[in-house]
Amino acid sequence: MSVVRFDNVGQTYEIHKTGHLVQALSDVTFDVAEKEFCAIVGPSGCGKSTLLHLLAGLKTPTSGEVFFRSHKVEAINTAVGYVTQDSRLLPWMTVVDNIRLPLDIRKVARKERDKLVEEWIALVGLEGFESVYPSQLSGGMQKRCSIARTLVYGPDVLLMDEPFAAVDAITRTVLQQILLDLWSNYQKTVLFVTHDLNEALTLADRIIVMTKRPGRIKAQIEVSIQRPRDVFHVAELPEFTKLHRELWDVFRSEIDGSLSQPERGQD
Ligand SMILES: Nc1ncnc2c1ncn2[C@@H]1O[C@H](COP(=O)(O)OP(=O)(O)OP(=O)(O)O)[C@@H](O)[C@H]1O
Ligand SMILES: [Mg+2]
Repeated sequence: MSVVRFDNVGQTYEIHKTGHLVQALSDVTFDVAEKEFCAIVGPSGCGKSTLLHLLAGLKTPTSGEVFFRSHKVEAINTAVGYVTQDSRLLPWMTVVDNIRLPLDIRKVARKERDKLVEEWIALVGLEGFESVYPSQLSGGMQKRCSIARTLVYGPDVLLMDEPFAAVDAITRTVLQQILLDLWSNYQKTVLFVTHDLNEALTLADRIIVMTKRPGRIKAQIEVSIQRPRDVFHVAELPEFTKLHRELWDVFRSEIDGSLSQPERGQD
């Protein structure tokens, strides 16, 4: 059964003051199955974050419909955990208070709550920074704090918008492995936006490639690489190289002229 369905979704924004219209998405239709790890890649500005916003119920689409577990999304969708592209930490709360917040809202018992917060602070490597405010953290640390705050309460559907983009390469690999283990051990469904084709291949069951704006679905690539995957070595597998070439061939035609090569014989 599908958890998520985008049905002919289009989104047009009106730019404040100028009234200029920007068509971000056009005719987007796809499903995400229960427990699937689905990555979305596409050029900057093609509407990837908009897709997650629509699913989280932060906006309604200009055309088409978005469904979550067969219900049309018409209000804030509290059933999903959303790691947004900006960290959105509460600046007046310390690291520990930010991470604890979703558990307080859900009235989780104190002992369980404190144990979970401690575990997640350790998992994302923020020990020693519990009492620090977001403005005193580096960009990558803020991101890690925001990831912990979303995962700490165990939502079974995760929307992640370039969650590891601002994190250094080593921490990113560790966090990717944590996410994969969490996904397989706790049967999560994940929609994961990334610019990084290697990251999409490392993590996902299926990769949705979008066109440049207005974003449409250009291709869907099944990632048939065996599981469980070891993020430290997965790129060494021959299937990885083959799929990377396939994905890149699809993707490169969507990148603005910047990569176009002169025709042979022109020079
Ligand atoms: N609130 C808004 N008001 C007006 N235009 C918007 C708004 N949000 C997004 N847009 C426009 O819609 C288009 C798609 O934006 P979106 O953030 O979804 O792209 P994206 O694929 O996530 O890009 P990136 O990879 O750079 O994060 C862009 O042209 C952007 O300027
Ligand atoms: Mg975005």
